[in-house]
Amino acid sequence: MKGEKEATTELRLVGEITVLRAKSMDDAEADYSWRIDPELAGLDATRPVTLSFTEYLRYHRDDVAYPSPWSVRMAIDTSGGRHIGNCMYYDINSEKLQCELGVMIGDRDYWSQGYGTDVVKTALAHIFTTTELERVYLHTLSTNFRAQKSFTKSGFKPLRDVRRDGYEFILMEIWRKEWEATNPVEARSQSADTSSTSTSPSALQPDTDPLMGS
Ligand SMILES: CC(C)(COP(=O)(O)OP(=O)(O)OC[C@H]1O[C@@H](n2cnc3c(N)ncnc32)[C@H](O)[C@@H]1OP(=O)(O)O)[C@@H](O)C(=O)NCCC(=O)NCCS
Repeated sequence: MKGEKEATTELRLVGEITVLRAKSMDDAEADYSWRIDPELAGLDATRPVTLSFTEYLRYHRDDVAYPSPWSVRMAIDTSGGRHIGNCMYYDINSEKLQCELGVMIGDRDYWSQGYGTDVVKTALAHIFTTTELERVYLHTLSTNFRAQKSFTKSGFKPLRDVRRDGYEFILMEIWRKEWEATNPVEARSQSADTSSTSTSPSALQPDTDPLMGS
C-alpha cells in the first residue's frame, strides 16, 4: 500500500561484482575509519568526524537498531564478502515520489574498477522494482570527475549546477521511465528477485544524519 513501510527482513541485493546488504554492528570499525578520513570527507563535501570511536559506536548502534523510515542504509561488500563502502537512499518522499542517493567506497584499493557503477545500478534496480519512486537524484562535487563518470555510466544525467554551503555541486538525476527504457523486463524481474526486502516510500520529511554534512 502506498505510504506504508514494509521493510522487516534483511536487505540483500546482489550485483555483478558487489552485494548491498543491511548495515551491521561489525561495520563500525571500517565505517569509523572512513568517517574520520579527511580526503573522503572532502569528496563528500563534509568535515571528518571528530568523535572518539566509543562515541561513534553509540550512533552506529542506533543506526543499526532503529533504521529511519525515510532512508535505507546499506553496506557495500565485494562479491567475495569484503566490506568496501556504504550506500544509502534517503529523503524518501512519497509525495514527490523521489529520493536522493549517496554512495561512498571507502577502501581506495577499490576505486575506478567499476564497483561504484555496479553499486548504483544495483541500488537503482532495487528502487525502481520494489518502490513506487519515479525519480532518483544525487549531488556530487563539480570537481569529482570520477564520481560523475561513474554515475553517468549507471544512467544518471546532469541536470544543473547547485551552490550550497560554499560548495559547487552538479545535480544529477534518473527517472523511472529512463531506467525502464534501458532495462528490459526480464532484467527487471531478476533485479526484484535479488532483494529479500521490499521498501515502500513513506516519508514526507527529510531524513537527517547527525554525522553527515551533505
Ligand atoms: C565516486 C565512487 C562511488 C565511484 O566509484 P568507482 O568504483 O571508483 O568508479 P567506477 O569505476 O564505477 O567509475 C569511475 C570512472 O571514472 C574514471 N575516472 C577515474 N578518475 C577519473 C578522473 N580524475 N577524471 C575522469 N574520469 C576518471 C574511471 O576510469 C572510470 O571510468 P572507466 O570505467 O570508463 O574507466 C567512488 O570512487 C568513491 O566512493 N570515491 C570516494 C568518495 C566519493 O568520491 N564520493 C562521491 C560522493 S558523490
